[in-house]
Amino acid sequence: MSTYVVVGLQYGDEGKGKITDVLSAKSDYVVRFQGGDNAGHTVYVGDEKFVLHLLPSGVLQCKGKCIIANGVVVNPKAFMKEIAQLEEKGMKTDHVFISRRAHVIMPYHILLDTYREEDEDGTQIGTTKKGIGPCYEDKISRVGIRMVDLLNPEVLREKIEKNLKTKNSLFEKYFGKPTLDIDEIYNEFIEIGEKLKDRIVDTEVELNQAIHDGKNILFEGAQALMLDIDFGTYPFVTSSSPSTGGVCTGAGVPPTSLQNLIGVAKAYTTRVGHGPFPTELHDELGENIRKIGHEFGATTGRPRRTGWLDLVSLKHATMINGINNLVITKLDVLSGIPLLKIATHYRTEDGKIIDYFTSSTTKLYNYEPIYQELEGWTEDISHARTYDELPANAKKYIEFIEQYLGISVYLVSVGPERSQNIIRKELF
Ligand code: GDP
Ligand code: IMO
Ligand code: MG
Repeated sequence: MSTYVVVGLQYGDEGKGKITDVLSAKSDYVVRFQGGDNAGHTVYVGDEKFVLHLLPSGVLQCKGKCIIANGVVVNPKAFMKEIAQLEEKGMKTDHVFISRRAHVIMPYHILLDTYREEDEDGTQIGTTKKGIGPCYEDKISRVGIRMVDLLNPEVLREKIEKNLKTKNSLFEKYFGKPTLDIDEIYNEFIEIGEKLKDRIVDTEVELNQAIHDGKNILFEGAQALMLDIDFGTYPFVTSSSPSTGGVCTGAGVPPTSLQNLIGVAKAYTTRVGHGPFPTELHDELGENIRKIGHEFGATTGRPRRTGWLDLVSLKHATMINGINNLVITKLDVLSGIPLLKIATHYRTEDGKIIDYFTSSTTKLYNYEPIYQELEGWTEDISHARTYDELPANAKKYIEFIEQYLGISVYLVSVGPERSQNIIRKELF
């Protein structure tokens, strides 16, 4: 009985949802601890596709509880929509709960995110326009609305009123957009509170008790380390801490309780949105990887930028997260590429060769990756279920990653379906 943390090590979309789904079958709790419905976690069960944005991916097969903890920013309308979609498919959702402390994404957060992205002042991040940044801003500014506030009419009205004063002024005077009406928002959100009241609970005490009782608890990260507000390619990041450290503040559990720290990386790299991407491919190969890997955003449908595996950034990510188990996904997508490249160092603009990730985001655009070349393989590996079934060059690819990072790969994913895994070590 133990705790498990699944986090992304690149720029998101590594396949965290699929891995969480696999691990959740044996979990008593599956917990989201940061981010919001900017996430898009895809799980294939047979031919059926599920895309979870706000609900933990564990909702599909966890027999215990699914928790959206305090560190998540919750769009309650997106929550109800996702619940309704699952219930339409005949699934039970009465095991899903939201922390009373979680902050609520309000309509003005979404508008602010959208207007900023539409503003042609050159500062766009390429966000998902889900209101994530503005909601976290209000949380840190101590003017945010929390789930618990939806249950208290007086407090809710007062908080919306206060927020609308500044937001409406910004909409009108800066963006030249219409203002929002207090009654409309208040009525809608008080009704939402009424609908959700049985799901809005204190989660930290129960989670700590579960840890004490030796239950299996799985924490599911959204986004990834290279989008981390502190350690990613700032400002082209999200507004939360998608690291293992984020679990402690995002779910209210102590660092000493975290045991299996599972880092998920694709066998290559993708990124959606703006920002530096040193190993990006701008050629036909990049286009082919996008096609074969179906690299289109699960939340916004945007084409994902594609590139070679970048071990410099992966080392940064495994270091910050303290990863002790690696998962490599989408190895099947690389089948048929004769020569594969993996970045091991960067050459800086003044010719220095480095193997660490820089904090200077602007400089990254001018860094040139230095690659190790590895021979590819031609076999279809999507049916492999044991490590020995992999072609020798595919094994060399995995082992090169392990040696560079000094961490073993415990699971290799060879297809989107739940069962398409090579599990080298049982974690449970
Ligand atoms: P997440 O955000 O980290 O959960 O990842 P996404 O679900 O956004 O993106 C990963 C995509 O790759 C999804 O469409 C998955 O179904 C798919 N996928 C996951 N693992 C594999 C794999 O090993 N091989 C292939 N071909 N697809 C995979
Ligand atoms: P999952 O959990 C990939 C990116 C956006 C943008 C930046 C900031 O599916 O891996 P935001 O809306 O969070 O303010 O956008 O972060 N981004 C993601 N990219 N996967 C995600 O989630 C992402 N969530 C946000 O594209 O560049
Ligand atoms: Mg995704």
